Amino acid sequence: MVCSKCLSGPEDWEQAGSLMPAGTSLRWFQTLPSTNAAALNALDCPEGTVFAADCQESGRGRLGRSWHSPPGRNLYFSLVLYPRLCLSQWGGFSLAAGVGLAEGIAKLGLCPELKWPNDLLIRGRKLSGILLEAKAEKLVVGIGVNVNQREFPDYLVAASLSQVADKIWRRDKLLPHFVEEVFRWCKLWEGGLHQRVLSSWQQYDVLIGNKVTACRGEERIQGRAEAVGGQGELVVIGDNGIRHYFHSGEVTLDKGLRE
Ligand code: BTN
Repeated sequence: MVCSKCLSGPEDWEQAGSLMPAGTSLRWFQTLPSTNAAALNALDCPEGTVFAADCQESGRGRLGRSWHSPPGRNLYFSLVLYPRLCLSQWGGFSLAAGVGLAEGIAKLGLCPELKWPNDLLIRGRKLSGILLEAKAEKLVVGIGVNVNQREFPDYLVAASLSQVADKIWRRDKLLPHFVEEVFRWCKLWEGGLHQRVLSSWQQYDVLIGNKVTACRGEERIQGRAEAVGGQGELVVIGDNGIRHYFHSGEVTLDKGLRE
C-alpha cells in the first residue's frame, strides 16, 4: 500500500520498476501511440508485463473513442495476461480489473464507484477508464487514471485524484500500487473466485437497483439494473418486465431516479 509520506518528491521510474509487485514487470516509455497497442503487438512479453507511458498520442477508449492522454499528469498503462480460462469467462476480467482499481483507490482514503461495464467514478465524475483488448491467447487490461490533471476539456465529465484529494500525487508510486490490486483481482477471477469478485463489484456499483437506460447499437432499453452476472453482463429488467442481458454497450443512470 502507498503511504502518504512517500508521495512527495520527483518521480523515479527506474525505482518504480523495482517496486512492481511479484509476477509483474514494468516497461516505461516517454511516449507511445497507445499502451494497449504496444502490449497487444509485443512479441516477447510474459504475463504480468506492464506497458506504461507518460503520454499517448492515440490513446484508445471504449466504443472506438479516443482517450485524452496529455503528458506529465496521468497514468496510462496496460497489463498483459494469458488467461487459462475459456473465452466465455474472459468478460469477468473487466469486472475484476474494475474491482482491483476501486480497491486501490479506496486504499488511498477515497470513495470510488463503479459503473458497468468498467468506468470508475468519483463524486459522479469519471476518474478512470478501463479497456480490455485481446489478441489470440493474450488479454490486455488497459487503464487510464486521471492523477494530477486539474483542468479537462468541457466535453469530458472527468475528475482527477488531485482534484478530489487536493494534492499532487507521485505517479511512480501509484502505478505499482494499482498494478498490485488489479493483478491480484484478475488472478482471483482466473482462479475461479467469481462470487468474490462479483460481490466486491456490488459494493462499489452505482447502477444496481436504479432506473437506467441501456443502449446497444440501435437498441435502447429503459428499466431497472438488476445485477451484474458471472460473464460480466449487465442484467436490466425493462419497464415492460422483460429481462435483457447486456454483454456490451453503454448505460446511463436516469437522472433523479437514483434510489
Ligand atoms: C474508456 O473509454 O473508458 C476506456 C479508456 C481506457 C484508456 C486506457 S489508457 C491506457 C490504455 N491504452 C489505451 O490506448 N487505452 C487504455
